[in-house]
Amino acid sequence: MKLPRWVSNALLLMAGSYFLAMVVLEGWESEPVFSEIPADAGVTSLPKGFLFGAATAAHQIEGGNEHNDWAAFERIPGNISEDQVSGVAAGHWERVPEDIALLKGMGANAYRFSIEWSRLEPVEGQWDESAWSHYVDEINGLRHAGIEPMVTLLHFTLPDWLARQGGLTAGHFPELFGRFAAEAARRLGPQVNFWCTVNEPNVQMYQAYVQGVWPPGIRDTAEASRAFAGLVRGHAAAATALRKHDPDSRVGAAINLIVFDPDRHWWALDWIAASEADKGFNWAFYDSIKSGAVSFHLSGFPEIEEPLPELNGSADYFGINYYRRNLVRFTPSAPGLVALLQGPGQLSDAGVEIYPEGLLRLLRRVWQRYELPIYITENGVADNRGDMRPEYLRGHLYAVSQAIEEGIPVQGYFHWSLMDNFEWSEGFDHRFGLFRVDYNTLEREPGPAVAEFRRLSALMDP
Ligand code: FCB
Repeated sequence: MKLPRWVSNALLLMAGSYFLAMVVLEGWESEPVFSEIPADAGVTSLPKGFLFGAATAAHQIEGGNEHNDWAAFERIPGNISEDQVSGVAAGHWERVPEDIALLKGMGANAYRFSIEWSRLEPVEGQWDESAWSHYVDEINGLRHAGIEPMVTLLHFTLPDWLARQGGLTAGHFPELFGRFAAEAARRLGPQVNFWCTVNEPNVQMYQAYVQGVWPPGIRDTAEASRAFAGLVRGHAAAATALRKHDPDSRVGAAINLIVFDPDRHWWALDWIAASEADKGFNWAFYDSIKSGAVSFHLSGFPEIEEPLPELNGSADYFGINYYRRNLVRFTPSAPGLVALLQGPGQLSDAGVEIYPEGLLRLLRRVWQRYELPIYITENGVADNRGDMRPEYLRGHLYAVSQAIEEGIPVQGYFHWSLMDNFEWSEGFDHRFGLFRVDYNTLEREPGPAVAEFRRLSALMDP
């Protein structure tokens, strides 16, 4: 069959534009990053006052957290790898002074950790004085050691009384969380300058309400949207309470950011899928903060758009938790039409590509999008032998130093994690610690990256 001339011309034009567009997109993807990582990782160029430390979370290290939703979830067979439970975890509750000494010994000047709501308010409306004193002592101990605390209010775990009322999706969740934040500000505020309201709301929503593999184990997009909205409102309520107590405190949230690259550069649908994943996963939370409205627009999920004036200016910084890049392939047979693959680099023990350049790419995007100071609130690698971690640390710090040279205000870096710990669904299978924990004796032993951390911290301007 012979096509009319205008049809073949139009087809040719379309094909030509398609390839031109692909060449342009390819150019975007290969934005300049780096390949060689110098031994000093550029740390001498980090600004004065840069926070350099490690991060942890209460339920993962303390042990003895029996009254939150995770403790109940862990006891149900099949929920955690090999049915492990957090139990005594890394025994940190009994070892706070020892662990502060580890931080000091490795040259850290900052520490991000979470306070466990279920310990502090074990019964709705009743504060536990001894639990509050424990954290007051911990913060005093850190200050005494010259270590700046960054306190996270919600790192995935909810008191069981709140979980029974619907947890993140309960209508009064934001109010209860705001009340908890106000109490934390009143009791700890005098010694705390840096607050992180919620940790990885995007991951929590996805794991708990889309995949259903974290408590409450629900797979329902309407509930997922509601949980997301609850977390945004909770952040706003907490930020308001913290600011009321101390207008100078620095408040933000920690967002897990993933680099989503198209798997097949010549295939437009992979680009579209990558951009959808990027939009839905990476930016929804801070876009809400920026726009002053609880705003969630992801295909397949009920949409939300509700003004919330409290959100305006509710973040002084952007917290990035960076672990990975994924290649995105449009796959009609996959859930959500998208399959996530690993990139070509070395893989961690969690099967995740090690890709320090991705941190630089994300730092550029965060700065461009929000113009807020940035902290790397988490970055680390599942590495059971500990031999990938020194290079990992150096590579990612180099990404930070490159960003700073480009004028991006990155003000701190917290390595995940200080010590091995309870890694949620993976139980104790993945080791992320700078210090290795012997789970029989709970003794800590420095892994090879501790020496690297110390060496880099000594190069930094004090
Ligand atoms: C992050 C979590 C943290 C830890 C690391 C490995 O997503 O915030 O608690 O599990 O991953």
